[in-house]
Amino acid sequence: MIKIFIFILLYFRFGYADVHVKKIPKNFIFGLGTSSYQIEGAWNTNGKGPSIWDEFVHRVPSPIKNNDTGDIACDSYYRYKEDVLNVYNAGFQFYRFSISWPRILPTGYTNNINEEGIIYYKKLIQEILRYNMTAVVTIYHWELPQQLYKDGVDWTNPKFVDIFVDYTRFIVSRYFKSILTLACENGFA
Ligand SMILES: *[C@@H]1O[C@H](CO)[C@@H](O)[C@H](O)[C@H]1NC(C)=O
Ligand SMILES: *[C@@H]1O[C@H](CO)[C@@H](O)[C@H](O)[C@H]1NC(C)=O
Repeated sequence: MIKIFIFILLYFRFGYADVHVKKIPKNFIFGLGTSSYQIEGAWNTNGKGPSIWDEFVHRVPSPIKNNDTGDIACDSYYRYKEDVLNVYNAGFQFYRFSISWPRILPTGYTNNINEEGIIYYKKLIQEILRYNMTAVVTIYHWELPQQLYKDGVDWTNPKFVDIFVDYTRFIVSRYFKSILTLACENGFA
């Protein structure tokens, strides 16, 4: 079993009428969430660019106890099939993962695309749908591409808005169609 930083997400699909009932309503959906930096590893593999976390943990002297890094973490980049199977076997109905921005756009900008990174998340989504679970995607979990930070365009700069919109549009354009296609193949449509 891979060690995963887990938290459980619960939400109501419809309304709040049963909120005083002391058992879990049938329309509750249980899911499990992870974040890319904490589980993927493969920090510089197959064209991934560095994030601010990669830069931070690699400083000498290290700011982290025992010089720990997320360079390998839970190795989920290679072991995602096993992880998705574990989520399924635990009885969850959705899996929420996050996309590492610099894995798909190494510098953060849409003029530098890493197809290998895009393929990784396609395969992950396909695996989730194969078990009839819902794929829930977080597009930012604290992995700002280091290049954007160097260029001074981070969350404190109003110019960041356009960059984030470009990134978001890019994700939707590259994944939405394939997610819909996969969902149809898996009988969700
Ligand atoms: C952390 O790295 C520094 C510098 O490379 C080294 O001197 C130190 O022994 C390392 N500490 C541990 C706990 O590995
Ligand atoms: C997913 O749903 C399809 C269609 O209902 C079903 O044939 C298949 O066995 C399900 N797969 C799993 C892993 O539950």
